[in-house]
Amino acid sequence: MKPSERIILALDVPGFDEAIDSVWKFRDHVEIFKVGSELFTSVGPRIIEEIHSIGKRVFLDLKFHDIPNTVSRSALVAARLGVFMFNVHTLGGFEMMKQAAQAISKFSLGKNVDRPRIIGVTILTSMDQAAMQDELGIGLRLGPQVKQLAGLAQRAGLDGVVASPEDAEVIRSRFGKGFLIVSPGIRPSWAAAGDQKRYLTPREALRRGADYIVIGRAITSQPDPIRALKRIEEEIAGV
Ligand code: C5P
Repeated sequence: MKPSERIILALDVPGFDEAIDSVWKFRDHVEIFKVGSELFTSVGPRIIEEIHSIGKRVFLDLKFHDIPNTVSRSALVAARLGVFMFNVHTLGGFEMMKQAAQAISKFSLGKNVDRPRIIGVTILTSMDQAAMQDELGIGLRLGPQVKQLAGLAQRAGLDGVVASPEDAEVIRSRFGKGFLIVSPGIRPSWAAAGDQKRYLTPREALRRGADYIVIGRAITSQPDPIRALKRIEEEIAGV
């Protein structure tokens, strides 16, 4: 994979035109665009069709988290839309993840199409140890908690996890090469942290084992976003 193929650009905007303008603007540099809850809630599946028609792939970041039946049906819809990747919350549990993974495998085999990568969100990168313990009452330390959830995802048949770049190394060493790690929480040294608490630079995230890095504001909020993207490409070349 070329370094630029490892960057997933987050289309965190509310409007169809705005999002598509970004896809055109970045089309020479980015292969995968992330459609999250803001954009999808605002404009619906036609954004995915439009991105596909430009020849780009979609990571549908809706973090499904519901009972197994509902999530597996939603997963099927994502597969029908032909997205490259989508995610569920590992905290939804083993059965939820297993049924979703099985539903899309069956669909993709039946249609003879590529199975979308199904990825489990572990602990959000905006959440730190204190928030996890004091707000959610989760007793484990962050590291073991992430490992526990990643293991559950792997056993349930998921292709990988969304995890902070800080957790990438431990996940990579524990779950091996084939298990995808998608890391948001990416901040070059020259960008503001914002609400992300557990973040690293693009270079460090890849060095620690992330397969894909999800970047939004560190590119889109810069005065010259293309220059910011090129700077990141240079920083990660040769990692
Ligand atoms: O602007 P920034 O680079 O922080 O954007 C990160 C993107 O990744 C956002 O769209 C956010 O929803 C998403 N994301 C995240 N943490 C996760 C999963 C997705 O920040 N665990």
